[in-house]
Amino acid sequence: MKPTSRSLSRAALASTLLAASIGASLLLATTSAGAATTLGASAAQTGRYFGTAVSAGKLGDTTYVGILNREFSMVTPENEMKWDATEPNQGQFSFTNGDRILNQAVSNGKRVRGHALLWHQQQPGWAQGLSGSALRQAALNHVTQVATHYQGKIYAWDVVNEAFADGGSGGRRDSNLQRTGNDWIEAAFRAARAADPGAKLCYNDYNTDGVNAKSTGIYNMVRDFKSRGVPIDCVGFQSHLSNSAPSDYQANLQRFADLGVEVQITELDISGSNQANVYGTVTRACLAVARCAGLTVWGIRDSDSWRTGENPLLFDGNGNKKAAYTSVLDALNAGGTTTTPTTPTTPTTPTTPTTPSNSGCTSSVSLDSWNGGFVATVRVTAGSTALSGWSVTTNLPSGATVTSGWNAGQSGTTGSVKWTNVGYNGNVAAGQSTQFGFQGTGSADGITSSCTAG
Ligand code: XIL
Repeated sequence: MKPTSRSLSRAALASTLLAASIGASLLLATTSAGAATTLGASAAQTGRYFGTAVSAGKLGDTTYVGILNREFSMVTPENEMKWDATEPNQGQFSFTNGDRILNQAVSNGKRVRGHALLWHQQQPGWAQGLSGSALRQAALNHVTQVATHYQGKIYAWDVVNEAFADGGSGGRRDSNLQRTGNDWIEAAFRAARAADPGAKLCYNDYNTDGVNAKSTGIYNMVRDFKSRGVPIDCVGFQSHLSNSAPSDYQANLQRFADLGVEVQITELDISGSNQANVYGTVTRACLAVARCAGLTVWGIRDSDSWRTGENPLLFDGNGNKKAAYTSVLDALNAGGTTTTPTTPTTPTTPTTPTTPSNSGCTSSVSLDSWNGGFVATVRVTAGSTALSGWSVTTNLPSGATVTSGWNAGQSGTTGSVKWTNVGYNGNVAAGQSTQFGFQGTGSADGITSSCTAG
């Protein structure tokens, strides 16, 4: 008994020391992003985002906006970018509320998931009355116009929402859009790519939280799209859950990731007495999948939830943190220290300022690296005159490949990769800076960068 308990306590001591040293290096790695005491900052430690659905009508509520600004790094308009909101009459577009949410988010340093270009629900009346080629044309025009309006400003679009049937068929849901032909989904993705080449394009659905007939139908569609070059970058898992998550939740995310698409938890809310545990489980599942880019909860306070009376969110009606919040925060903070090979484990922050100041701007790269991958954060700083546009060239060592970027247009994936400002971050006042980032596979140790104004 004695030797066992002694070796146990030695092991416990060793793991405490290990945790302490990892904790210390994490603190160092996140100093510039702030302490990891909010959802957004904690998720950022592993290169991920933490988002929420936002309703334009609540942007005057100071409690709501206070939590939004403090906790979240990604925003999804809850209803304001849907078809009925953005094109109430055919050919007449209305972006006021979508723009309000986007501007609030961007001016507070958050990114935006666009939701949703095409869906069988929340269609304007005029579209519900169309069919055949008239509907096909109207739908593609809608995709083009909305994605063009927001071009350069959206991190990821839910291009098509909820197109698969529930139950065992694994097939498409019947809808007016589906009746225009089975290729309506790929036509929508192609139109979205043409309108906004910088946005990731997602397929989004619910009841897809484990391996089941519906998720397998979607899996087969994504595999087919990838094999035929239909532009799809991500799959959204809404994850409206009731008291449990399927035991193969993580495995299901992983099989999609293995197709080469990013996976995102897009509308998370969880009812029931086991809520806090399940929130932790879902968060850890995302953290364990390297291509899981982040999580979004579908609202801030329980009183903001569309699931009236179910209290499925992270804050109570008064804006207080619930046990579910702590469970998520703890899981996010632990994520950076896990030894799962697909998760960041050894954050390092080599900084490589490189550009001479005579080009009007300087750039520096900080890296969070792990075995087989990295997240790079690039800071662009204006010189003594303001910038009205910038580009940065990053030189990656051989073997490193960029898999996705944010807050900048991208040209190239290996070697010399060029990044150009997007609409909202081209103007940088003298001496001020802005940031963009990217993630990739391989090792980026030794990366250099140079910045050019204009
Ligand atoms: C919901 C909103 O939260 C409600 O305000 C609205 O009345 C109906 O739609 N799947 C989706 C979301 O993709 O757009 C839905 O949002 C919830 C289910």
